[in-house]
Amino acid sequence: MYPLIRNRRLRASESIRRLVRETVLTPDDFLVPLFVVEGKGVKEEIASMPNYYRLSLDNLEKEVKELWNMGLCAVLLFVKVPDNLKDNAGTEALNPDGLMQRAIKTVKNACADMLVMTDVALDPYSSFGHDGIVADGTILNDETALTLAKMSSSHAQAGADFVAPSDMMDGRILTIREALEKEGFTDTGIMSYAAKYASAFYGPFRDALDSAPVDIKDVPKDKKTYQMDPANRLAALKETEMDVAEGADIVMVKPGLSYLDIVREVKDAVEVPVAAYQVSGEYAMLKAAAEKGWLDHDAVMLEQLMAFKRAGASIIATYFAKEATKLLNW
Ligand code: PBG
Repeated sequence: MYPLIRNRRLRASESIRRLVRETVLTPDDFLVPLFVVEGKGVKEEIASMPNYYRLSLDNLEKEVKELWNMGLCAVLLFVKVPDNLKDNAGTEALNPDGLMQRAIKTVKNACADMLVMTDVALDPYSSFGHDGIVADGTILNDETALTLAKMSSSHAQAGADFVAPSDMMDGRILTIREALEKEGFTDTGIMSYAAKYASAFYGPFRDALDSAPVDIKDVPKDKKTYQMDPANRLAALKETEMDVAEGADIVMVKPGLSYLDIVREVKDAVEVPVAAYQVSGEYAMLKAAAEKGWLDHDAVMLEQLMAFKRAGASIIATYFAKEATKLLNW
């Protein structure tokens, strides 16, 4: 007891702080989300995500090379689909020559060792902005899972290393795993968005992809019948345990910062790597506060990323990956 024990001895200098530091952030921890659009020479800034862009394939190629040269090793691809290609069934998602399929090939051609993960959900392809097929005011579960399984095979065929289902339908991990096995994609991994909450933090992302649920009669206005209630923790444990049993190689908790308790609980409950997604709204909040001069951007950014790792995330999907890597000077 005090005065024999003085906790401040372990904080007295930068050298002792370095020596006893429990968590070290590195670029190896980061998964870089990328937004892809049709066109040539396109690099459009997303209004609600300052300094983040939608890229056409030629710029995607440049970006991926830059990321790799900086020391980043994994990307998570999203596509913005033209309105005329959207329908309720998400048909375009299965097009072997669709934007996602071409994006996967572009990344792999630019940089064969860059790990490619792909978002698997119907929302960017859905004329209703839902992650699944809409019928009679509900989202069809099993039919959607079958489409997602075909979509996953299509991504694997194009060269994706991991598919990342973000839809929260029941049973989709098993349905996807079985389809991948059947098609011979036994080495294609699954990173499940296992504990994904119906969060208000996804707003800027839906701006980026123009993928928000539409306001039409008989179409659910929100995603609360499939994404989880932010009030619940048991559901997160059940979802992640089931996804691991169904064949998920990695499980993800999303959003990140407001759900670090869930990250820790999931980390302690399952024996697969846990990812956390620092989502678009979290990115936008810090950018806005920094722009006002109210927060020190770089310091807060690194503190937040560190918090994910301390909470148990071994993978952090973050729009700050590049900025953080520059600062970490790895
Ligand atoms: C699509 C998807 C979403 C995000 C990742 N995949 C949006 C949603 O579920 O509405 C959100 C990512 C972010 O906000 O950064 N299923």
